[in-house]
This record gives sequence, structure tokens and C-alpha cells, in this order.
Amino acid sequence: MIKLIKSTFYNEKITKKKLCNFIMKTEQMSIGKNVSQFENDFSKWQGRKYSVMFNSGSSANLALVQVLVNLGKIKPGDSVGFSALTWATNVMPIITMNLKPIPIDIETDTLNISSKKVIESYNKHKFKCLFITNLLGFSDDIDNIRKFCISKKILLIEDNCESLGTEYKGEKLGNFSLASTFSFYVGHHLSTIEGGMVCTDDKEIDTMLRIVRSHGWDRHLTLDEQSALRKKYKVDDFYGKYTFYDIGYNFRPTEIQGFLGSDQLKYLDAMVSKRETNYKKFEKIYLNSDFIKMDTSKLTKISNFAFPLICKDKKTRDNYIELAKKAEVEIRPIVAGSINNQAFFGKYVSKKFLLKNAEMVHNNGFYFGNNPDLTEKEIQILVKTFS
Ligand SMILES: Cc1ncc(COP(=O)(O)O)c(C=O)c1O
Repeated sequence: MIKLIKSTFYNEKITKKKLCNFIMKTEQMSIGKNVSQFENDFSKWQGRKYSVMFNSGSSANLALVQVLVNLGKIKPGDSVGFSALTWATNVMPIITMNLKPIPIDIETDTLNISSKKVIESYNKHKFKCLFITNLLGFSDDIDNIRKFCISKKILLIEDNCESLGTEYKGEKLGNFSLASTFSFYVGHHLSTIEGGMVCTDDKEIDTMLRIVRSHGWDRHLTLDEQSALRKKYKVDDFYGKYTFYDIGYNFRPTEIQGFLGSDQLKYLDAMVSKRETNYKKFEKIYLNSDFIKMDTSKLTKISNFAFPLICKDKKTRDNYIELAKKAEVEIRPIVAGSINNQAFFGKYVSKKFLLKNAEMVHNNGFYFGNNPDLTEKEIQILVKTFS
């Protein structure tokens, strides 16, 4: 079976050995200096001022929306636009925080929202915030989306959980927005087993992220930030230990995740480059007219962890599901598909949205895994199966 996920780590054996040594010699396993080290390393790699690590990408997404609410940048009742083809836990915080979810349809040849679709939706819904998802290592014209958001004072936030390392016209995805989220789940580009990150260049957001990550208290702020808060709320050192300043959660990662993050980051460029080489080989499959070719013309680097195949109709897609079974290739739907079709969305959002392209991808699409450990033989089997 050619599985989606072949290993937990890049350089699995050595990494597991290093992990055993780390555990044997480390006293404090709860959040500490290894998490801070990874945050600094990641900021440098991504090219952002601040990074705050979380225990998952979903926690990072929830925390980021909570931060915008805590800071009064968005308020209950405000509309929030988001990519209709995304992950469920991006949309759930919008619902639970009493914001109005506005799904925006995607383009079938990038699987992402375009400025055209954003403008069409904005003219109807006037959303205050746009939560874009960079799906499967691709993006549409995100530079124009950024320009439009600036011109209309729309808060742009970016879910980059599936596109760590992709560059659009030479600029890393995850750097187009006020803040962006990442996932280090084992199946993604870099694994800390479970883990996530939020990056931003905004100090106020960085500080609030640290409050939201840890119960709403000030424990992981700088001494200056702590004393400013304690002065504002007239809190002394004794009560300072258990004073909770705003809505928060416990989304802290462990030192194990921090250690793994810094370790795996050393291999990230190599992993991205292997995935890109694989992607170029898989592109031959698009010569098969059963599939829509993805438009990657504006991507200067493609960091893709699963190769999408969108058929012209459902019957053709069903034939390929059978073929994949016979060839022993693990395949999956295109992420969460059209959000309209998700049970939780139907339960909590009564309004129906026209999402023609997301619907088409939901009905006719699937993907197989693209990971850096694929052998040449497996790559050839994949190309042959779908060509
Ligand atoms: C686009 C996107 N965002 C967020 C997440 C959630 O990340 P995690 O699994 O780390 O919670 C996923 C999960 O796969 C995802 O695909």
C-alpha cells in the first residue's frame, strides 16, 4: 500500500534516537526553553517577527480568532469571509464566537479563493475579516487579495497549515497577512507529532496570543508586559500568579514538541525540495484529459504534501477510486470539501451559499500523498496508475 503518511519524522531513526536522549536528560517537559527556541528558529525561517507555538494547528486557528475578538478587532455579529474549501476547525471558531461565517467559492484550477471571488463576495456581505486558507501548497492571486483587503480595511488572516514553504512570486505564503497559522501534525510538511504555530509582525497580537494560549494569564509574557498588566488591573505579585486577564484556553505545547520542531526545521528545506521534485514528476498525470491541470504559474516554489486530481464528473472520479483500491494507493477527499456539505455547518448555519466550484471539487476530486520518503518506484506506480 502506498500510504499518505510514510513516517512520523524526516530521518526517522536518527530523530527517534535523539528524542530518546532528549527525554532522558530533560527535567522540565512542560513548556519552556525548547519551545521558545523553536519559536525563534521558526520566525527566522519564515521571515516573521514573532511566532507563538501551540499544541495543534486547530488550536492555533481558534486562538488567533479569539485574539482578534479579545482585542476588539472583530465583534460578535461581524461577518468573516473564509475559503469554502478548507478545514473544519477554521470555521468552527467563527461560529462559536458568534461571528457570521461567509464561505467564498474557490477556483477549480488552484483550489483557492481568487481576488475576483473575494470582491464578488465582499460586495454582497461586507465582511470585516477574511480568513484565507492556502490549500494543498497552492494559492490564487493572493497579492491582489492582500491589496483589496488593505484598500477596504479588511483584516486578512491566513491559514498556511497546508502550504509551509510555498512561495508566491518569491514571497513565502504565510507572510501575506496580519497573522498566519501553521500545523505540525505528522501528516504535514514538518512534524512535531502534533503542533501548531501563529506568526505575526504585530507585537500586540503576539502578546495576546501568549495570554490566550495559557489560561488567559500573564505567565509567558515579558517582565515589562507583566508589570504593565498588573499595574493596569492593580494586581500584586501574590494574586498575579492566578489572575486571568482575558478569555483563554490551555493550548500549550510540550518541550518534546519544541525540541522536535527545532530538530525537524533543519531538514525543512530538503523536505520541501523533495516534495517539489515529486510534484513535477506527478504533473505528467495532468496530460490525462480526465483531470483538471492545477495552475501553478505564479508559484516560485511549490511545497505540496498531497497531489490533487479533480475529474470532470463524479462517475470518472468513482472509477479512479476503484483503480486506486486495486493499485493499493491510499487516497482521500480534497480536504473538507465544500463547507456547505459538512454536517456541523448545516447544523449551526441555516443560510445556504452558492459554492459551485467547491461543490464540484467535493464531488469529483481526490488526492494521494506526496511525501519526501516516496521511492522512485512508488512515484512511477502513482504516475502509471493515474495516467
Ligand atoms: C488547512 C488546515 N488547517 C488546519 C488544520 C488543523 O491542523 P491540526 O491537525 O494540527 O489541528 C488542518 C488539518 O489538517 C488543515 O488542513
